Amino acid sequence: MTTKIKPRRILVTSALPYANGPLHLGHLLEHIQTDIWARFQRLRGHECHYVCADDTHGTPIMLKAQELGVSPEALIAQVHGEHLADLQGFNISHDNYYTTHSEENRAHASSIYLKLKQRGYIAERSIVQAFDPEKKLFLADRYVKGSCPRCDASDQYGDNCEVCGATYAPTDLKNPISILSGATPVEKESLHYFFKLPEFTDFIKEWLGNENLQPAVRNKLGEWLESGLQEWDISRDAPYFGFEIPDAPGKYFYVWLDAPIGYMASFENYCQRVGLDFDEFWDRDAAASAGTELYHFIGKDIINFHGLFWPAMMHACDLRLPNAIFAHGFLSVDGAKMSKSRGTFITASSYLEHLAPDYLRYYFASRLGSGVDDIDLNLEDFVQKCNADLVGKLVNIASRCAGFITKRFNNTLANEVDNPELLTDIAQAGDALAALYEVREFGKAARDIMALADRANQYIDEKQPWVVAKQEGQEQLLHAICSTGVIAFAQLIAYLKPILPSLASDSEAFLNTKLEWQGVNDSLPGTTINKFKPLLKRLENSSIEQLLEANRQSSPAAAAPAQANAKTSGKAGGKKPAATGESKDTTIEIDEFMQVELRVARIEKAEAVEGADKLLKLTLDVGNETRTVFSGIKSAYSPDDLQGRLTVLVANLKPRKMRFGTSEGMVLAASSDDDKAGIYLLEPDSGARPGMRIT
Ligand code: MSP
Ligand code: ZN
Repeated sequence: MTTKIKPRRILVTSALPYANGPLHLGHLLEHIQTDIWARFQRLRGHECHYVCADDTHGTPIMLKAQELGVSPEALIAQVHGEHLADLQGFNISHDNYYTTHSEENRAHASSIYLKLKQRGYIAERSIVQAFDPEKKLFLADRYVKGSCPRCDASDQYGDNCEVCGATYAPTDLKNPISILSGATPVEKESLHYFFKLPEFTDFIKEWLGNENLQPAVRNKLGEWLESGLQEWDISRDAPYFGFEIPDAPGKYFYVWLDAPIGYMASFENYCQRVGLDFDEFWDRDAAASAGTELYHFIGKDIINFHGLFWPAMMHACDLRLPNAIFAHGFLSVDGAKMSKSRGTFITASSYLEHLAPDYLRYYFASRLGSGVDDIDLNLEDFVQKCNADLVGKLVNIASRCAGFITKRFNNTLANEVDNPELLTDIAQAGDALAALYEVREFGKAARDIMALADRANQYIDEKQPWVVAKQEGQEQLLHAICSTGVIAFAQLIAYLKPILPSLASDSEAFLNTKLEWQGVNDSLPGTTINKFKPLLKRLENSSIEQLLEANRQSSPAAAAPAQANAKTSGKAGGKKPAATGESKDTTIEIDEFMQVELRVARIEKAEAVEGADKLLKLTLDVGNETRTVFSGIKSAYSPDDLQGRLTVLVANLKPRKMRFGTSEGMVLAASSDDDKAGIYLLEPDSGARPGMRIT
């Protein structure tokens, strides 16, 4: 059953990545978060447009182009191509990925500025700044270094001292130098333009009452309000890569003035392409009557720009306000800030060279919630979680059932399922899952979906279709069980579609249907599906090692200094120690484990043993020798099914004399304590050869 909902009209954005370097996994955290939400809204039948762009202006980009000996236009064009390819590689469903260096953006930035000026919100006054006499450039705080005026620590940046924590202006530093040329900066005066933010104090207070703001965001904005809002310097002197301010030759808009306007420009460019009405999403009155919604996804380091300056500017110019800004925390890798020397500064493109996008999308989703907590990509946990949840639980449901549907039922699902209660329960979880997605609690949604996958697997464990398959006259039951499994799988994939677009589209090809948010219980029975092909490979630790190695070798050119006047960087989340319990220590040393000799074995022959209910006699090829092993797996396997299969042998067990002969080792199988949930022989991944040592 689907609940009837009135379609909403939504526009979402991710923050615009700077065009002076490659995208890394921190950027991807944001685009994946936004993309999951946008895809979810569309899947629920809403109109949801998602735009973004490269943020192309400012001093670092100008300097980077100089360093490379190219024009800034050439640099940003090249980076745009790279960013776009990365984002498409991760299946980010932007409707438009544009650039802030566009005519649309110039026009909007100019008209917003002129409106602000006309309405009396622009102040002009001269300020004194550090100036590099060799480079002939005004120096932002991060471009000046010297000794701290308070504690004398050397080599400190122009804004604060990392030793004693003092904050100051670059002109206060002792023995200052420009990090661009090494020259001693001089003080120089020039005229600047300011946005009169303090006039919007009451407005910001009101905006703080917006119930959609996250508590952490509201607190931050509250603190800034309390310490008093300051006028905001929105101009920079030439030379600067950006837009010249109308009627002010040699003065340019500060990059952060035209960056959020870039959201509008990207959307306008998209409107022209698809014929949407721009004003319905941006004009205060038109948006109110059209009932459109606007959301900005951002990192917590840029809350001030999106929570103070931007809404104040919008308010001043009769633009609509965002319904909310959704801030997220910072990404760390293995408990520390991403590091080029450790190889954990992982670029988007190198990730894509080594791994499929859905793994990272799933892992990020599983860690994301509605708050601004930092998020750690723990690589060991990443491998473990993807393998356990996606391969071991989710895809396993289909792979355990689909073979029978193909081999025995001509690829057709039964009209009558075996366990309608299970399928109804899974369908009924839809509303609760949708509520979690809506509030960006993706981790909780993923966890609940995996709990349903557990139930589906338990059901299959209980019904043992592989046993039923061998019983005569049970065709109908086998058909109904396997169809139940496949339909359960389909519904779970539908719920995961926003998170796992690639897996979902491969599954749709297998299921021969386009999945909606709900409805498979009615639509799938009786339909024909396609032959099952493995949908996801297990993640291997070796791929992770190769990924780190690649990022260690080809770390991107040393990062440009942080964007002028920019932002404090986020702190990486610390690794929590594992919880310690009171129970007895059952751990062993690695060398104790290494004493066990595990080897790959091929089952040459399997035979029933006369007089033994549970045992099969296995003849094993272990590379350069043959072993005989008696194994208690008869209840789960018929001898014919085992022939030729690979498994794992404990090769250095003392031979054991049994009533039926001597057993020269033991093969490994998984089972529950009472064997009720079945017995599962271990099997190495394809490609392994008899005799290989397992470590
Ligand atoms: N260009 C500005 C945004 C302008 S929006 C009108 C900018 N660019 S950025 O490239 O530095 O960052 C883009 C987005 O990526 C920001 O939201 C930022 O918070 C996010 N992240 C950058 N590094 C990050 C992590 N390590 N972790 C999570 N998000 C991070 O800021
Ligand atoms: Zn100091």
